[in-house]
Amino acid sequence: MSSRRLSLDREGGRERESAYLLCKNGISFCGCFGSDPKDVLVAPRERERERFCSSVGLSLVDFGRRAMEPGRMDVGILAMDIYFPPTCVQQEALEDYDGASKGKYTIGLGQDCMAFCTDLEDVISMSLTVVLSLLEKYQIDPRQIGRLEVGSETVIDKSKSIKTWLMQVFEEYDNTDVEGVDSTNACYGGTAALFNCVNWVESSSWDGRYGLVVCTDSAVYAEGPARPTGGAAAIAMLIGPNAPISFESKFRGTHMAHVYDFYKPNLASEYPVVDGKLSQTCYLMALDSCYKRFCGKFEKIEGKQFSISDANYFVFHSPYNKLVQKSFARLVFNDFLHCPSNLQKEERENLEPFSNMTGEESYQSRELEKVSQQVAKPFYNVKVQPSTLLPKQIGNTYTASLYAALASVVYNKHDTLMGQRIVMFSYGSGLTSTMFSFKLHDGQHPFSLSNIASILNLSEKLKSRHVFSPEKFAETLKLMEHRYGAKDFETSKDTSLLSPGTFYLTKVDSMYRRCYAKKGSEDAPGSKMFSFSSMSMVNGY
Ligand code: ACO
Repeated sequence: MSSRRLSLDREGGRERESAYLLCKNGISFCGCFGSDPKDVLVAPRERERERFCSSVGLSLVDFGRRAMEPGRMDVGILAMDIYFPPTCVQQEALEDYDGASKGKYTIGLGQDCMAFCTDLEDVISMSLTVVLSLLEKYQIDPRQIGRLEVGSETVIDKSKSIKTWLMQVFEEYDNTDVEGVDSTNACYGGTAALFNCVNWVESSSWDGRYGLVVCTDSAVYAEGPARPTGGAAAIAMLIGPNAPISFESKFRGTHMAHVYDFYKPNLASEYPVVDGKLSQTCYLMALDSCYKRFCGKFEKIEGKQFSISDANYFVFHSPYNKLVQKSFARLVFNDFLHCPSNLQKEERENLEPFSNMTGEESYQSRELEKVSQQVAKPFYNVKVQPSTLLPKQIGNTYTASLYAALASVVYNKHDTLMGQRIVMFSYGSGLTSTMFSFKLHDGQHPFSLSNIASILNLSEKLKSRHVFSPEKFAETLKLMEHRYGAKDFETSKDTSLLSPGTFYLTKVDSMYRRCYAKKGSEDAPGSKMFSFSSMSMVNGY
């Protein structure tokens, strides 16, 4: 529990001061007023809050609104959890199977392993699993959720949102008062969902409850060069004030445009149409543009130029690690062009030959790519590498990718993140992109960085996966091709690879209604919290 001082209004020339408390189960206000900050009292009880409000002539609702002054409440991510399938394929084995040259996927793309769903799992089951897991592990009452936003580009139904599936969790608790639907634009949908939730908490319509964001995707590609850049995961993030991972809302740079780099026009197939080379260039151009705008806003507000030294970590949407390496090198090159004094003499000399290139030339120059990556390497090791754990191990998880990278930083560095800044770059083909930043605070249990890291438990989760052969992986994808958009089928009865508490698809009936079950979780901690834990569900009933 923590308190903040908040200026409310002026009466008779005397500044009124208040303090409010943000509690685990919502917001509770209290305080008194006076011109001396030391006069601020903290009184956590409900009746004190009412007494205080009546003493200052405010309704509880109006008081709540005042407390929601944007930027004053450190709105952001309070809690995170991630789920990825227990099934994966090693990139090295895949290289061999695909007849690619040795090192192409592991060094060339920089990927180690790729998670994928078998016929038992999909974006709905993964999001049910991760939402239940987050609520249970952080002991959040489902009635405390007031907004639920989902980001996904994996289309299972062209009308019914994934969010409506998740409502089963809340209906059970008579909580149907939950705003939000799905956001879709390639890998950017999760960021759109996150912004919606944060904006809601900062707005006058906020009712004091938490927001919940779910990013869920199964990234699969047709046979060919893009296939090793797939992946699968769902991530859930609890949103509210006083967050350990709080938004610096004023620093945002966005770039959106119309291009055909990656899209899914064939509604009979889960696979995208990809212009791989164009998508790489679009990503880097969008990055440059967002960085320029982000820096511009930073300079306007902070009165000084932004450079990579102003952030401790840079977290990128990660289709594959090599693009992340190139992206960070691009930021270093941008810094060289705009504030060269931040680089050492030798680094400047190395980049000097490229200083007069046009933008277009710079995207095509292999030499610049090589040199800028060399110059960036020591910074990359410190500022980017901690975010690469999950993206390298589970692959491109589309909307979840950026947040899986963020989870990796929190997991790897939670002890030292206090007061630090993380810059995020979100990219969705088509294209939509934003650069934004977080400020890190220690937070209060259960919403502390150390607790988030321990609940994420990434090493254990990665270690307990089952490695499939590339043959089995290809066979699974073949089966899923036939199942995509199909009806009247049952899935495998063998759930032995799933952990207790995991939701899975059991069948799709003749009306295309999908049925899910939860793997018996008698031994799983916290499993008693939700009574439908072992029920079978067809569209919620
Ligand atoms: N050892 C080491 N490196 C190798 C080897 C080898 N044996 N063989 C190739 N490489 C390197 C290449 O030099 C290249 O590296 P570079 O980019 O630094 O030059 C890298 O491996 C990839 O090789 P390419 O020949 O460029 O690969 P290809 O064109 O076959 O496919 C691509 C790569 C385009 C990324 C493909 O996987 C794809 O289309 N993926 C999906 C699109 C995508 O992810 N786009 C990113 C943004 S959009 C989004 O997020 C969906």
